[in-house]
Amino acid sequence: MIAIYPGSFDPITLGHIDIIERGCKLFKKVIVAVLRNPSKTSLFTIEKRLNQIRHSTEHLPNVEVASFDGLAVNYAKMRQAKVLIRGLRVLSDFEKELQMAHTNKTLSSEIETVFLATSNEYSFLSSSVVKEIAIFGGSVDHLVPQHIAIDIYKCYDKTQPILNQK
Ligand code: PNS
Repeated sequence: MIAIYPGSFDPITLGHIDIIERGCKLFKKVIVAVLRNPSKTSLFTIEKRLNQIRHSTEHLPNVEVASFDGLAVNYAKMRQAKVLIRGLRVLSDFEKELQMAHTNKTLSSEIETVFLATSNEYSFLSSSVVKEIAIFGGSVDHLVPQHIAIDIYKCYDKTQPILNQK
C-alpha cells in the first residue's frame, strides 16, 4: 500500500523524519508530498525543500519526495495511494488534525488518514519552533539534520549559532 505524507516541511525537522521512518516500516512506499501553497510565506522555496527532504531521507529506499497542488486527497488518488499519514504530537494537534481527516473523508471516502504518534523526544518540535529559535540566534542543530541547520543559519545571515545549546 502506498501512503502520502503531505505537509509544508518548511523546513523538515527530526520529528517529520521520525514519522517518515516509521511510515516506511508500515507501507510499501511513502510519498513525502510538499504542498505548493502560493498564499503562504515560506522560508525555503519548494525546490529547496524538496532537495532538503531528499537528502534527509536518502537512507530510506521506499521514500519518494514530490510536490503537489490542490487537494491532498486528489493527489493521493492520482498517485494510487490509499492513505494520508499525519503525525500527532500533543492533544492540541488532535482537534485540527481530526477536522482535516473528517474534511478529507467527505472529499474522498476511499482515502484513510493514519495518525502516527510522534516519538516523545520530538513532541514539542515543529518547523515554526525551529525558525523562531534560529531568528533569535539559537542553535537548531539538535532539531533538524545538519545540512538543514546550515541552510537555516545562512537564511538568518549566520554561519554559526551564537550559542550551541546541544
Ligand atoms: O505541514 P502542514 O502545514 O501542517 O500541512 C498541512 C497540509 C499541507 C497537509 C494541509 O494543509 C493540506 O492537505 N492542504 C492541501 C489542501 C487540502 O487538501 N485541504 C483539505 C484538507 S483541510
